[in-house]
Amino acid sequence: MATLPLRLILSSVLLVFILSALPAARCDNEEDNLFQGINKYRASLNLTALTKNDNAECLAGKLADQFQDQPCTNTTGANTIPGTENQLPNFPTLLEKCHLNVTNTRDGTIMPVCVPNLVPSLVLSNYTQSAIYPKSLNDTKYTGIGISTEKDWAIVILTTSTPEGGYAPASSDNAASPSSRITFSFHLFFLLLGSFFYALN
Ligand SMILES: *[C@@H]1O[C@H](CO)[C@@H](O)[C@H](O)[C@H]1NC(C)=O
Ligand SMILES: *[C@@H]1O[C@H](CO)[C@@H](O)[C@H](O)[C@H]1NC(C)=O
Ligand SMILES: *[C@@H]1O[C@H](CO)[C@@H](O)[C@H](O)[C@H]1NC(C)=O
Ligand SMILES: *[C@@H]1O[C@H](CO)[C@@H](O)[C@H](O)[C@H]1NC(C)=O
Ligand SMILES: *[C@@H]1O[C@H](CO)[C@@H](O)[C@H](O)[C@H]1NC(C)=O
Repeated sequence: MATLPLRLILSSVLLVFILSALPAARCDNEEDNLFQGINKYRASLNLTALTKNDNAECLAGKLADQFQDQPCTNTTGANTIPGTENQLPNFPTLLEKCHLNVTNTRDGTIMPVCVPNLVPSLVLSNYTQSAIYPKSLNDTKYTGIGISTEKDWAIVILTTSTPEGGYAPASSDNAASPSSRITFSFHLFFLLLGSFFYALN
């Protein structure tokens, strides 16, 4: 029989983990909405749906981390003037973190969007109605997609089914699974552990 303080500690641990799982869930929702919105757009153009690419999602996550503290301006995100995208000096490092390199990513396309509070309808229209991005979304060569959102930023990466844009590491170290999934299992584990101890009481 657990004593009262122990029970208190366990329920607080449980509560903290449930609460810390919430922002991740909100973020996943934004990403799923955008994923579905983009595939609806593809369907309206009679194009095949894009399938999720975990390595592209990994890279999108690293890029979103980098962009998140930049404010939206009329030259960021979908307003970028083609050819003037700031070249990230640490891009090769980010690729490496996702087990990628320039050889298997060069035919893909990276599309950052900056929308205050990531209003879902504006985020989607920045992809489907801006000057530069619809052309890529309307391209049959793209078959895969990776999405990440952070603060006001959304990053969408389109991948091809060729080796040059497939975002697929050749080796078996396909360890670039989305960290959110790991975090979620982690929370779930503690949730189950918590319920277990609760049941013991
Ligand atoms: C998509 O296909 C349908 C039926 O085949 C056709 O009616 C429609 O015009 C097509 N739309 C586009 C955008 O190509
Ligand atoms: C961006 O905004 C600034 C000031 O608000 C303006 O001077 C500039 O011309 C704008 N640039 C573009 C590309 O619209
Ligand atoms: C893109 O998002 C901005 C907000 O950052 C909004 O003002 C603009 O209208 C959007 N553009 C399109 C084409 O939806
Ligand atoms: C999509 O691409 C097709 C073929 O290149 C073109 O006919 C069509 O006008 C494009 N649609 C949009 C909305 O860009
Ligand atoms: C990139 O990765 C692929 C697959 O892992 C490998 O075959 C290729 O040699 C690498 N290229 C460079 C430039 O590192």
